[in-house]
Amino acid sequence: MATQFVKAERLRRLPPYLFAEIDKKKKAAIAAGRDIINLGVGDPDRPTPTEVIRSVQHHVENPAFHQYALDQGAPELRRSIAAFCKRRYELELDPETEVLVLIGSKEGLAHFPLAALNPGEISLVPDPCYPAYRSASMFAGGDLYTMPLEASLDFRPDLSAIPADVLALARLMFLNYPNNPTGATADLPFFEKVVELARANKFVVAQDAAYNEMYYENAPPSILQVPGAKDVAIEFHSLSKTFNMTGWRIGFAIGGAPLIAALGQVKANSDSGVFTAIQFAGRTALDEYHKLGPPIRALYKERRDAFVGALKQLGWKVPVPKATFYVWIPCPAGFTSAELCAKLLDEADVVTTPGIGFGRTADGYIRAALTVETPRLLEAVERIGKLKL
Ligand SMILES: Cc1ncc(COP(=O)(O)O)c(C=O)c1O
Repeated sequence: MATQFVKAERLRRLPPYLFAEIDKKKKAAIAAGRDIINLGVGDPDRPTPTEVIRSVQHHVENPAFHQYALDQGAPELRRSIAAFCKRRYELELDPETEVLVLIGSKEGLAHFPLAALNPGEISLVPDPCYPAYRSASMFAGGDLYTMPLEASLDFRPDLSAIPADVLALARLMFLNYPNNPTGATADLPFFEKVVELARANKFVVAQDAAYNEMYYENAPPSILQVPGAKDVAIEFHSLSKTFNMTGWRIGFAIGGAPLIAALGQVKANSDSGVFTAIQFAGRTALDEYHKLGPPIRALYKERRDAFVGALKQLGWKVPVPKATFYVWIPCPAGFTSAELCAKLLDEADVVTTPGIGFGRTADGYIRAALTVETPRLLEAVERIGKLKL
């Protein structure tokens, strides 16, 4: 019997999944036994630090942790998060009301529009962006307003270009610095302008700081360092990339108590928290950040310098990313991002991600992730060089 099931309108309204074509080609190439260099995935290739693994092994033995976790997260972890934020950003956070443990930052980012946005209100979303901001805003019934990120403005939105009638209906702005996919960072003066605009127009800011600890020369700020930002901003952090823990699913939100409570309310109605043994291992990671962070950063710096340096030697004009493990590569003349990715895969066995998958304004770029060892990165560039693009 044919199914009677009809997919909900909200799923049918989602934009098409633009990585499908390249995913298909990549799978076929791997199945055919080709020696693929995969720079397509934003997932660290190195294992989680031993200290963190030992910690979960220890805590998994605790029967108390086999039961449901507390909704807001274990108090011990929330205290460690507040202490980390004090050390790293000089923030004063109340672990009881201004910190919320998440099942990875994506979970919080995806739930937050349900807490902040009513149907018909506007979500201000950068383009390009991590696709969850768009889909989560749509799931909440919001309308989208796209803020283009241009190289000429260091990939920051032109706040003065947002029309007054859009600002009047805006209730939420997503930002993501350090930025996926462009590798750009924001400074405190920019965040000050954002906070001022949010106050003046009564919207809240969801700043995605998933890559804040994956930086090169200068440590990026938190938006909450802006005086008064807690009233209008919530910031999403992740242990995924900082500590090679993508599979563990742990992150946190920090911000003003009403924003945190509203997100907590959505979560209390949809999930039951992170396995407490993982929360305690997360605590170990944050407590040991001063020791665990630097070698991971040094590794990506070595890779970034080798990869970007080699591309530059080929004559490619590649901006040097200030943070994240992504390199945002302008396409040579005559290529769309999808065409260039297809050529690199078909003729050089190198997988990259087309900019168009992150937004309409990004079709002139492809993204390469520094998630393979340096010799493989250099081999990728050598293969690309042979194409004489
Ligand atoms: C910009 C950005 N935000 C959030 C996430 C989600 O990270 P997680 O849910 O693992 O914390 C990712 C993952 O790739 C990302 O690129």
